[in-house]
Amino acid sequence: MQANPKDIVTLYHVDKVYPPNQQALRGIDFKVQTGEFVFIAGSSGAGKSTLLKLISAQERATRGQVIVGGRNLSSIARTQVASLRRSIGVIFQDYKLLETRTVIDNVAFALEVVGVAKRERYQQAYKMLAALGLKERVNSYPLMLSGGEQQRVSIARALVNRPKLILADEPTGNLDPDMASAVFNLLLEANRCGATIMVASHHLALIEALNKRTIVFDKGKLIGDFDRPRG
Ligand SMILES: Nc1ncnc2c1ncn2[C@@H]1O[C@H](COP(=O)(O)OP(=O)(O)O)[C@@H](O)[C@H]1O
Ligand SMILES: [Mg+2]
Repeated sequence: MQANPKDIVTLYHVDKVYPPNQQALRGIDFKVQTGEFVFIAGSSGAGKSTLLKLISAQERATRGQVIVGGRNLSSIARTQVASLRRSIGVIFQDYKLLETRTVIDNVAFALEVVGVAKRERYQQAYKMLAALGLKERVNSYPLMLSGGEQQRVSIARALVNRPKLILADEPTGNLDPDMASAVFNLLLEANRCGATIMVASHHLALIEALNKRTIVFDKGKLIGDFDRPRG
């Protein structure tokens, strides 16, 4: 299938079945254009995390096509997966921080893999951590931090190299309201600078307040796609 270059993400007739027979997604079709900000909504078990894992090539579709930045992930070679992942900023639900590295090392590492010089890496990492209220924590190790602090480090790491596509899985799940709005302000700022953002969330009040396109899932099916809910 031919993807439109304006679309950064295209799903076509996608099914995902986890072995042996757990159907997580069924017959999913949608497109996201470059520069959009999209919520993926739905209650627990709806398939939100699975969807973001397909787009970030952590899981493969059982049927159908997943096309990201013009690359068909259903047929991509393993060697291409690494370079694709480097171009996507992923905020995972379980943080995936390197426990033996300090907070600032974790964030600077995201810039090292794309070849940024050392001094520049640490300057940018510090700036991003400061924006997330973590100035005092740069030299701590991840396991010394609270869940909310770890979540913010993972957000800093995902945003620091200014990826064109940002996927966030429940990015404010462990944060108090002030921190949650700081995180959303960073995502909105990245979006204003041209990044495409997809955020999985079951936090309805927040989704409604931001008034963005919202794709709704229920038990693995896409049940609604609202351009600007209530607005
Ligand atoms: N690795 C896995 N193996 C088997 N089943 C899974 C796996 N991951 C998720 N599932 C199942 O797939 C469905 C969708 O899960 P998930 O994508 O995590 O939904 P959500 O993020 O919306 O809560 C659920 O029924 C879940 O139990
Ligand atoms: Mg989930």
